[in-house]
Amino acid sequence: MNRIRIAIQKSGRLSERSLELLQKCGLRFVRSKDKLYWYGQDFPVDLLLVRDDDIPRILLDGVCDLGIVGQNTAREVILEDDSRELEELRRLEFGGCRLSIAVPEQSNIKEISDLNGCRIATSYPALTEDLLQQRGIKAAMVKLSGSVEIAPGLGTADAISDLVSTGTTLRANHLVELGVLFESTAALYGQRGNLPAEKQTLLDRLLARLDGVLQAAESKYVMLHAPRNAIEEITRLLPGAEHPSLMNLESDPDRVALHAVCRETLFWEHLESLKGAGASAILVLPVEKMLG
Ligand code: PRP
Ligand code: ZN
Repeated sequence: MNRIRIAIQKSGRLSERSLELLQKCGLRFVRSKDKLYWYGQDFPVDLLLVRDDDIPRILLDGVCDLGIVGQNTAREVILEDDSRELEELRRLEFGGCRLSIAVPEQSNIKEISDLNGCRIATSYPALTEDLLQQRGIKAAMVKLSGSVEIAPGLGTADAISDLVSTGTTLRANHLVELGVLFESTAALYGQRGNLPAEKQTLLDRLLARLDGVLQAAESKYVMLHAPRNAIEEITRLLPGAEHPSLMNLESDPDRVALHAVCRETLFWEHLESLKGAGASAILVLPVEKMLG
């Protein structure tokens, strides 16, 4: 059947933003009672709600075509299986966190280089081992699937390598962060290889919509009045704007109305320099959708 199946996290840090992103791409779902499988209404894309850690394997097994998961989780499976089958299709702008080494407040381990020969509790043994090896450190991994932060207190590890987002979990467990091994965000993954033509067409349409949403999130529509002789300078001052539209102003033949889409973040400093270059009546509007 030519439907695309996307795996997203059932409940946790990535769930809400993953769903919100897909909805912004125009996807609507009929939610089934057991809430694990959501059927796509207007577009043949269905959702499977699962544990985030299971998503990379679900893709490799071909159960789903796409999945939204943290780069850390995907990297772990890629290293563990020595698999190049998982392909990062798009990096997403949410789910930011870091994989860090942390130790008890009173520990003798003061920096990452002290970790040689230590035991490190983690849910990401392959990734941690790989990143430490790159720094010339060899440590023993103690693999835990959850509650990693209590391992040092229980005496089963000297340090942990875990995801940190706000740092609350570390503080609550009297652990201090020694250093960051890996910065991660959520990303959209697929399996490398050939999809049947119809599915590929569907995937391309979905990715085009996704790119539109991701671009629109940063983009702003700017309207302003500019002196005719400053059009070039003003266009240059607009970050990521290409071809502005120009309109004559009945009231003032020396000035024009200039409209442009800025594809990069527009800061107050930008507006101030536009004003400095002679622009007036500057308006900045959010962009909801973009295509082409
Ligand atoms: C991570 C990590 C910590 C927590 C850190 O879990 O394992 O428990 O988040 O966040 P904080 O710094 O804001 O306190 P994750 O969200 O990946 O949940 P999971 O282990 O259930 O997948
Ligand atoms: Zn998880």
